[in-house]
Amino acid sequence: MKVLVVGGGGREHAICWKLAQSPKVTELYCAPGNGGIAQVAECVPIKATNVNGMVKWAKENAMDFVMVAPDDPLALGMVDALEQAGIPAFGPRANAAIIEASKAFSKELMKKYHIPTARYKTFTDLDSALAYIREQGAPIVVKADGLALGKGVVVASTVEEAETAVREMMEDKKFGESGSTVVIEECMTGPEVTVLAFCDGEHLAPMLSSQDHKRAYDGNQGPNTGGMGAFCPSPKYTPEIADRCVREIFLPTVAALKAEGRPFKGVIYFGLMLTKDGPRVVEYNARFGDPETQPILSMLDSDLMDIFQACVDGTLDQVDIKWKDGAACCLVLASGGYPVKYQSGHPISGLAESEALGATVFHAGTKAENGEILTAGGRVLGVTATGSTLEQAIAAAYAAAKPISFQDMHFRTDIGKV
Ligand code: AMP
Ligand code: GLY
Repeated sequence: MKVLVVGGGGREHAICWKLAQSPKVTELYCAPGNGGIAQVAECVPIKATNVNGMVKWAKENAMDFVMVAPDDPLALGMVDALEQAGIPAFGPRANAAIIEASKAFSKELMKKYHIPTARYKTFTDLDSALAYIREQGAPIVVKADGLALGKGVVVASTVEEAETAVREMMEDKKFGESGSTVVIEECMTGPEVTVLAFCDGEHLAPMLSSQDHKRAYDGNQGPNTGGMGAFCPSPKYTPEIADRCVREIFLPTVAALKAEGRPFKGVIYFGLMLTKDGPRVVEYNARFGDPETQPILSMLDSDLMDIFQACVDGTLDQVDIKWKDGAACCLVLASGGYPVKYQSGHPISGLAESEALGATVFHAGTKAENGEILTAGGRVLGVTATGSTLEQAIAAAYAAAKPISFQDMHFRTDIGKV
């Protein structure tokens, strides 16, 4: 099979790395890819959001299957466009990807189908939003409705902070049209766990649970990032909690989307908070998480191409998905200054030495130039290692990161520990 993966970060490197192991995949392409992906797939210089360009290339080059990984092409309807062109594609159509693209939509869906989540109200008018915040008091959470690169959420500890957030979103258009509608919701407390699940429109297969670390610095300090590291499985996600999540959240979500005429095929990302009243949904994403995918796919024992095909064909219930025993940890090596301001173009050394220690180094923001690998983004690498326990996986990831260096390299020293 000729397979194209759309995207170019650490998540897509992990997907390509796993697909390259499938005997079914004879030719693998990635658009736009990056310096590390180029080692396992042929990179095609098309932007992930270029829907028409991607479909045209996939058609002209006779792709048998396309996997769309990032949120924006999914929301733009890339899967719909590929299907219309007769090309099987993995990922939700735009009408199902909306569970990530509109928080107002996903909150309403949860309310209608009694799926546990934070109490909320949606606003399109600034004065009513401000009045609601004053009435509710703090802490309170303000969310821009649309996609905002993971930055459209403010957990406000004071009324003033919440008011400022709402003004920035609705008045100053900090996130453009994404903030014209805001969701204001109850602040929940409890540990956070992520569960990704394969879906075929009707059936669902949860992957191993995971946890990521969103803040830039140790001790969960500093600004929010795309994720500074992740591990799986989460010790907090006990079999009892898993059972409740499947019954109260996962299956009802898949059934709700089907009932609404928006069957979900692809990966649903369940961001969960384990509150004292039980597990609740913090957010849905319509895709694999980054960096959660890197440790999770490192633990997958089955052929990923088989699973992708079953999701598209609606036969996920017939696939036996196997996971390795033990745990995996991904440590992100970032450019100094990320997520605010950072430099690119610095040479990276020590990659081969790191892999010789048994880790897999997934590239997030790199480019290959004249035989050298250079930094080309905020998150640069995800050093991923497995172990028979979580502690061993964490230690192996840190040990394997030691030989790697580039100018102003920054990483957290407490991944898996807080
Ligand atoms: P999101 O982009 O929706 O995942 O939100 C980013 C982060 O904000 C989450 O990972 C939580 O830590 C926090 N958060 C979002 N919604 C709530 C809520 N209702 N209560 C408490 N924390 C929240
Ligand atoms: N790591 C968080 C996300 O992918 O949304």
